[in-house]
Amino acid sequence: MTGRPIGVFDSGVGGLTVLRALQERLPRERFVYLGDTARLPYGTKSADTVVRYALQAADALVHASVKALIVACNTASAVALPAMSARHAALPVIGVVEPGAEAAAAASRSGMIAVIGTEATVRGGAYQRAIAARLPQAQIRAAACQLFVALAEEGWTDGPIARATAQRYLEPLFRDEGLAGAAAVPDTLVLGCTHFPMLRAVIREVIGPTVRIVDSAATTALAVERSLHERGLLSSSAAAAGLRLLATDGVARFAAVGTRFLGRSIQPHEVELVDL
Ligand code: DGL
Repeated sequence: MTGRPIGVFDSGVGGLTVLRALQERLPRERFVYLGDTARLPYGTKSADTVVRYALQAADALVHASVKALIVACNTASAVALPAMSARHAALPVIGVVEPGAEAAAAASRSGMIAVIGTEATVRGGAYQRAIAARLPQAQIRAAACQLFVALAEEGWTDGPIARATAQRYLEPLFRDEGLAGAAAVPDTLVLGCTHFPMLRAVIREVIGPTVRIVDSAATTALAVERSLHERGLLSSSAAAAGLRLLATDGVARFAAVGTRFLGRSIQPHEVELVDL
């Protein structure tokens, strides 16, 4: 069992930012990454559709004999995690929202926290609930920043278009509304979408140097390590370490765009095309 791979799922290439953190934290593990590139984006779809797609992706990974399922997609974590956990109750099923909320609650001093994500993530309120569960006094502002997904995929992560988009989305979140007794502006920003770390520099430029930026990659990797350790599922040998990449469409595009997200070159022949 310990030699089995860890399954990592995202709607596309964004989850490679989480995979990168997982590989750093768990260098002895074997991973199977599935990007549902044929159906990206999930973030603009209805909850029912996201649940249906996520369950199909989970089934495909379970078919690949994974020992754990990591939902490296904020939208799928926010909307479909209960359904995925119920369907695969024998496996650890770990999403990115709870670890992201944990990191936000730990980072914030004032309790005023801004969350950005896709439309579906923000609409469902999963981050808001997960942060409030840890920090009941938290004041949370949330905004959907759907265009960031396209900018990150396109590689337009700096320059005037990225900056103008970031200003348009973020300035209202960080506006001082002068509410008596309330903290003026958030002191922490949660990047509640796996694509958004690619825009970190331009986001930082817009929100200034003092706001803490939190993304869930590192905390998710820690949560995965903890869960596998508790269940005695950590790999005992580095010999099995490795990575299998699966995509539902566009192997060449997956390799080109994914290279930026993973931070190392991916060749098209490394990516297997699968049908869900
Ligand atoms: N991976 C998705 C997320 O983290 C973003 C892309 C999408 O909309 O599918 O929410």
